[in-house]
Amino acid sequence: MSGGPRPRVLLMHPILDPGPAILAEAAEVMSYPPGRPLDDESIRQAVEGCVGVVSQLMDPIRELVLSTPGLKIVSNVAVGYDNIDVTTATAYNVMVTNTPGVLDDSTADFAFTLLMATARRVIEGDRYTRAGMFRGWAIDMMLGTDVFGATLGIIGIGRIGRGLAHRAKGFNMRVLYYDPNPLSRDDEIELGATRVELGRLLAEADFVSVHVPLLPETHHLLSTPQFEQMRRSAILVNTSRGPVVDEAALVDALNARKIAGAGLDVYEREPAVHPGLIQLPNVVLAPHIASATVRTRSEMSAMAARNMATAVRGGRPPNLVNPGVVR
Ligand code: DGY
Repeated sequence: MSGGPRPRVLLMHPILDPGPAILAEAAEVMSYPPGRPLDDESIRQAVEGCVGVVSQLMDPIRELVLSTPGLKIVSNVAVGYDNIDVTTATAYNVMVTNTPGVLDDSTADFAFTLLMATARRVIEGDRYTRAGMFRGWAIDMMLGTDVFGATLGIIGIGRIGRGLAHRAKGFNMRVLYYDPNPLSRDDEIELGATRVELGRLLAEADFVSVHVPLLPETHHLLSTPQFEQMRRSAILVNTSRGPVVDEAALVDALNARKIAGAGLDVYEREPAVHPGLIQLPNVVLAPHIASATVRTRSEMSAMAARNMATAVRGGRPPNLVNPGVVR
């Protein structure tokens, strides 16, 4: 190896094996000081002198950071990259990469888990039982909603939405989907999924599950008018990004019993959770863990590290989200 200084990479937060070893082979890895605030100026200072940043979804990567001289790549350890201003990154010729594919199954599994847990009141039942309140079987105790044979509305039929449709087949569900990009006819047949307008999906679905990226067009995609179109017995599931759902409107809709419940993994102002949600028993709240399995998080770490290593060595990383950069 030549004796020059090794390129430096900033690791914003620890990642899982084998990510650290892959990074260390390609660069000198600097760790963002634990506990240091995650604001633009603090991140910019830490990025100085680095060719790359390995970021996560809580790291705002905006112009102040992206304009750092010498910065070549931001490798996000997530499939979503709404924490990064990609347009500005492209303008500064900074590559942005993500981790698509490896988390589809764990996320679809978890969306189905939230659907089931909310429909069948699993968390309420657990709390009730632990509190010593279970005094015997009762015919009207904790009645829930049937899942088998129900109608599932999937908003966004990308890889994760398709994964959910696939799972729904095992529950004999009728699957409606809304997406500006239709599935091929073969995929529709294979998944048993019918494309409809959003209004029809909301009006007919017993369960509505959201699988869209956070974009200006999807911000508050579900708000008061949409909740008003949903069935009073319907359950909303969100494992995508919090701001896709207008949280205050959701709380109002739940309180007014316009919909029956919600299973949520993501929040509008993470990690804050709307206090109105916390009080509601018909809501299941998870701490953004849809992709949190050992295999998935390890693969995300490895993929992000490989994206970074490729870029540091002068290559074009496989999961480039802004191919407009010139290198
Ligand atoms: C992602 O990858 O975007 C998830 O939200 C975090 O696993």
